Amino acid sequence: MIQSPRGTRDFLPDEMERRRFYEGILRQTARRYGFREIQTPIFEEAELFIMRSGPNILNELYAFKDKGGRDLALRPEMTAPAIRSFVNNMSNEPRPIKVFYFGQCFRYERPQSGRYREFFQFGAEIIGAATPQTDAEVIAAAIDMIGALDLKDYKVRIGHIGVLRKGLVSAGVPAESMPEILQKLDKKLYEEAWPLMEAAGVERKDAEAVFELAGTVGGEEVLSMISGEESDYLRQILSYLSAMGIDAPEIDLGVVRGLDYYTGMVFEVEAPALGAEKQICGGGSYTLSELFGGDKVFSTGFAIGFDRILLALEKEGASAPLEKPDAYVVAVSNETSLKAFEIVGILRRNGVSADIDLADRKMAKAMKHASSIGSRFAVIVGNEELKTDSVTLRDMTSGEQKVVKIDDLPSEIKDH
Ligand code: HAM
Repeated sequence: MIQSPRGTRDFLPDEMERRRFYEGILRQTARRYGFREIQTPIFEEAELFIMRSGPNILNELYAFKDKGGRDLALRPEMTAPAIRSFVNNMSNEPRPIKVFYFGQCFRYERPQSGRYREFFQFGAEIIGAATPQTDAEVIAAAIDMIGALDLKDYKVRIGHIGVLRKGLVSAGVPAESMPEILQKLDKKLYEEAWPLMEAAGVERKDAEAVFELAGTVGGEEVLSMISGEESDYLRQILSYLSAMGIDAPEIDLGVVRGLDYYTGMVFEVEAPALGAEKQICGGGSYTLSELFGGDKVFSTGFAIGFDRILLALEKEGASAPLEKPDAYVVAVSNETSLKAFEIVGILRRNGVSADIDLADRKMAKAMKHASSIGSRFAVIVGNEELKTDSVTLRDMTSGEQKVVKIDDLPSEIKDH
């Protein structure tokens, strides 16, 4: 038997309805912030992701050659595609441009709970603004989206990539060693960072100072430990967040992010209930457009790991409403079968979701099916009632039945 590829999933109807329900909430919230949706291709020129995504993403890239010999890759994330599309199509539009996107991404990772090779991101980018207000707006949108889903237990941490970068520069780390060392610091793997730093000529005491910085977490008071620009900038973000009524996030100077393109504020949201794969959202400010042939344009954005946030909601016992058909139409005998199809047509044209027996089932079996699919009503089409252009309408919950004119049937069902 052929199975779906490792790290991918099939979503069956109940799960799909649940996913669409939550996706709808995210979409509505994004619109409320003035973000408008874009869609970009699932595969791109591999170069787009090779340029600046960093070592982690490169190792996980699904890259291939097409029949024309082009080097392509399935997208591992959607920020680079969004900025490519901005450079190609939107660079003359008034800025800032606010876009959001939802779709699947692909990373060749070791699959486990909450970590897949095909997963979904819901993300947003503000392109063409470099202000604390922009960063605050992005963080607020992410927090409001998570809140709109009604997730209760999550934690937001914000930092500034400039802090560790400066720390590493003053410890003597050359630019080319920076990405690999930052990735180790991101994962708090200090003992793995040390040999890389030592090889770059860093002294142990300077490395210790960097490790201490990377481990600094707390409230606003943490900002007094760092100098100048970065702390002022983060402080301003906190004031704008507070003005918008958003609870103060934790300051974590060790937030580095797994991608390489960030230049300023960085933030992550985690849901502790998820254990190892607890990061449900990540983002920050960056520039990419100049790499893709455009001007240098500052942007800020984030992506929510849609699958992970759904797992976190499930752990909290949240449930999404499942839509059931309003009516199931049953012909009492073969003689009324055509009439039953006429009635199902009338119902559907009048906005009632209606299903019908397709298997020539006997009445009792058809009624059983109506109840197993959770239909609210059964419409029983029998010869006797048809003489007065009527049918029997049965409320499947209470079991009550009444005879209803076919003309009145759609409103009778919709009003209940
Ligand atoms: P990222 O942190 O690499 O950031 O991914 C965003 C989110 O996608 C993660 O926080 C996580 O929830 C989810 N995710 C990542 N990998 C997997 C996986 N294998 N399985 C399930 N979920 C996963 C970005 O992708 C950036 N583009 C975010 C961004 C937008 N930065 C600026 N704008």
